[in-house]
Amino acid sequence: MLETVRWKRMNGTDLLPGKLRIIDQTKLPKELVFLELDEIGEIVAAIKRLSVRGAPAIGCAAALGLAATAQHIETDSAERFIAEVETLAEKLAASRPTAVNLFWALNRSLSHLIRCDISDVSELKRELLREALAILEEDIGMCRAIGEHGENLIAENAGILTHCNAGALATGDFGTALSPMYAAHEQGRVFTVYSDETRPLLQGSRLTAWELNRAGIDVVTICDNMAAQVMKEGKIDLVMVGSDRIAANGDAANKIGTYGLAVLAKHHGIPFYVAAPTSTIDASLAHGGLIPIEIRDPAEVGAAEGVRVYNPAFDVTPNGLISGIITENGLHRPPYHFH
Ligand code: MRU
Repeated sequence: MLETVRWKRMNGTDLLPGKLRIIDQTKLPKELVFLELDEIGEIVAAIKRLSVRGAPAIGCAAALGLAATAQHIETDSAERFIAEVETLAEKLAASRPTAVNLFWALNRSLSHLIRCDISDVSELKRELLREALAILEEDIGMCRAIGEHGENLIAENAGILTHCNAGALATGDFGTALSPMYAAHEQGRVFTVYSDETRPLLQGSRLTAWELNRAGIDVVTICDNMAAQVMKEGKIDLVMVGSDRIAANGDAANKIGTYGLAVLAKHHGIPFYVAAPTSTIDASLAHGGLIPIEIRDPAEVGAAEGVRVYNPAFDVTPNGLISGIITENGLHRPPYHFH
């Protein structure tokens, strides 16, 4: 499996010193290159420009990135150390607004640091890293569990439509929406995945199609505006996508274009599934209208000079269009009530 987010030891067997190691996804599919980072500015920039992306991967990268940067804090005071870690966490939290896993992972790391009540700073640095590694480990387990809960939705010769990338490149392991596909493939089932190109940054054609093809899964790239026609031709049996944040009522934010697919799926009588870990559920938000939507740089969208561009990176699919939400705990059917 691709190791999208990992910890790189710099000194043989010891965990510290070390660096956050990520695949630079801006270079895919042309080149598979890794970045090793331990400086706050470069980690924030890597998340912003989508070198590391996808909700669970962002969470893992933020936790490991926090540990990588905190190892350089020079103080003997535990109080001072924690205050500086909080400042680093605030900088990481300001990188992207929609995927809740970022805030979830940073809060979890900070709470652990405070809860462990240790006065030795070098031990605190290790604790921060241990918690980040636990987040990564759990993410790997979560991917496998989603695969097991979702693979039986994929029948032999099924056509599956997916959008953006919710695969190995978006998580610590198999992915969320792509995990049931990997699991079904492992069992020898044959099916075809239609991967939306995903304008404007092409996560579908650059990342999803690349990783599925690499794994030997039959994948076809289509442009975003072809989904209705492909559904009408009877090629799609189910839609499976990931999510960046799910509200308490099951409304789910995902890459821009997902909502439109859900409307199309409903029209054509095709089941529409969302796969995401419980770390993506934000039960503090009653409904999806409260999910912050990232607006990205107009330069990402090709436009004639002088023409204004609107570039929201996500949209929210209302719960009524979602046939099921697959988490590591199983398949949830509507009505959704997450706490
Ligand atoms: O802007 P991106 O590439 O980070 O958006 C990613 C998505 O929308 C994914 O579908 C989502 O994060 C789920 S990843 C398992």
